[in-house]
Amino acid sequence: MRITGIFGNLLCQIRLLLFIAVCVTIVGWTNFYMKDSTRYTPKYRTPVENFWKSPLSEKKTEENSQPPLVEQTSQKEEDLKICPILSPNLQGVVPLMFPPNLTLADVEKKIPMMRNGHYQPETCRSQQRVAILIPYRNRERHLLYLLDNLLPFLQRQLLDYAIYIIHQAGNDTFNRAQLLNIGYLEALKEENWDCFIFHDVDLVPENDYNTYLCDSEPKHLVVVCNATNYNSVYKEYFGGVTAMTRKQIAKVNGYSNNYWGWGGEDDDLYYRVQLGNMTVVRPAREVARYTMISHTRDVGNEKNEKRWELLKNVSKVWKTDGLNSCTYELLSIEHNPLYINITVDIGKPHN
Ligand code: BGC
Repeated sequence: MRITGIFGNLLCQIRLLLFIAVCVTIVGWTNFYMKDSTRYTPKYRTPVENFWKSPLSEKKTEENSQPPLVEQTSQKEEDLKICPILSPNLQGVVPLMFPPNLTLADVEKKIPMMRNGHYQPETCRSQQRVAILIPYRNRERHLLYLLDNLLPFLQRQLLDYAIYIIHQAGNDTFNRAQLLNIGYLEALKEENWDCFIFHDVDLVPENDYNTYLCDSEPKHLVVVCNATNYNSVYKEYFGGVTAMTRKQIAKVNGYSNNYWGWGGEDDDLYYRVQLGNMTVVRPAREVARYTMISHTRDVGNEKNEKRWELLKNVSKVWKTDGLNSCTYELLSIEHNPLYINITVDIGKPHN
């Protein structure tokens, strides 16, 4: 009995010790896992958060060696309210300026808040992130005038935007549409743009209520223009300046790459929009007004006499001729304060 008593007591003590050991282990492991997960689990971002987070801001995060500061900055960015669709800074019709001696340095001085061709409003988060694509060759003066008038206009609209100049190298026939396809493809390699504005270099908007934002349908922004005495061109006209979302452009496979020289590529895009079961929307003609900077026809951009033939075949070729067949040699990408200059070799017409 005594032996059993001592033995029983010992057993009791062993059980107690075992119980304490198990408890200590559980508390220890729980503590370890809790600490570990708060420290190392990557912050999950929803697709919407990812949408707003640009690769550029990711890069900034990597470069900064002081993590707490980055946390505070990105937090601040996310805390910003969305900018209103109609900014309180709009002025309506603003007299356009075309000073004969204007230089790029003058425009840079006037617009000091742009970096690497990009601008973001400081006080709010823009409705959409907008890439302005300008097909370009030998139009330096037009580009200066456009930048001088357009950049303050976009900033009054509180837009997060970048200016992409897509410059066709060489003297072979110009291809506006293919340059715009390239602009779309290259711009998306840099940032997750929501909206693309295809913009001729010689068209300057007159009224800042003509917002450079995309709509639920492709939008045509040049409703009337001084060159036609502010009369409409034709019902299906879809040239000059147009706004389409990333998705709308992808849906129509972008522009055709086969329009060399002046004309037809914008009509082709209009047909693609219809084939993609979309419609074109337009702002009121009172605000969608433009001044065209007058010029003679460029050498290398003669009227494309093949355009009528090409336009007959849009429904047969639009799925295979466009963004998915756009080939080019990228010669350089240069980030200037006011614009990103993409120079490409696109060769010449095949026949
Ligand atoms: C051309 C278009 C051009 C329009 C207005 C049409 O004949 O095909 O490309 O935008 O005229 O000038």
